[in-house]
Amino acid sequence: MSTGQRQGDNAQGPVHVAIIMDGNGRWAKMRNLPRQEGHRRGLEALRRTVRNADELGIKVLTLYSFSTENWRRPQAEVSFLMGLLRRFVEKDLEELHGSGVRVRIIGGRDDLTPDLRGLVEHAETVTRGNTGMTLVVAFNYGARDEIARAARGLAADVAAGRIAAATIDEAMLSSRLDTHDLPDPELVIRTSGETRISNFLLWQAAYAEFVFTPVLWPDFDRAALEEALAEYRRRERRFGGLAEPADRKVGAA
Ligand code: FPP
Repeated sequence: MSTGQRQGDNAQGPVHVAIIMDGNGRWAKMRNLPRQEGHRRGLEALRRTVRNADELGIKVLTLYSFSTENWRRPQAEVSFLMGLLRRFVEKDLEELHGSGVRVRIIGGRDDLTPDLRGLVEHAETVTRGNTGMTLVVAFNYGARDEIARAARGLAADVAAGRIAAATIDEAMLSSRLDTHDLPDPELVIRTSGETRISNFLLWQAAYAEFVFTPVLWPDFDRAALEEALAEYRRRERRFGGLAEPADRKVGAA
């Protein structure tokens, strides 16, 4: 049965917005401030964006907070970013929970200290039953690492005879990703004028629209978010196929 609905209609949504928060360092440098001050202001922008996204009806918000590549930064900056995550969870969890936000953390957990791992697991457990916006914090996240971890899990299941290699398909691989319980993002925003994806949600963003804004992350405000949403809604999505429903085979009788 064909739905008769045009798949390329962006007027509604997006349901899931993912953001590469970039430009904290440049924001600080322009003001002759230490990079850490840029990250501190970045955390304020993060809090603001969570509130704005919730108010604007976004159902899932994913924020790229620390990448697998960020370990290469000076030790002091790495520690500072770890501390910001700790502070965010410790200070904001109560308010997020009160607003009905469900918190999810994606990324490798093995490299986190046991106390930080315990903290993020606590945040997920406490908010698991919430039905408001889902806030996904990508921390120690890299898409290639995520896909490799999923592949290792599948390979182990094949080796143990639990699944047959021939049954592995896109859905099965998706079900092994950190984002297994989340819809794919329809919109990915990157701030600071950079136009790279930087190992972020490579699998999940296969059909996403990308909006690049010159705004540095600490300056990202409600107007900037609304402008990105407006840009998304102006675009027509084609999912890499033909736009007309009659030509689409999916769901056809
Ligand atoms: C990119 O700016 C930003 C980061 C690597 C970290 C993002 C962190 C925050 C927004 C603060 C909140 C953090 C947590 C953990 C909740 P950059 O330093 O690469 O900026 P630059 O490219 O201008 O140097």
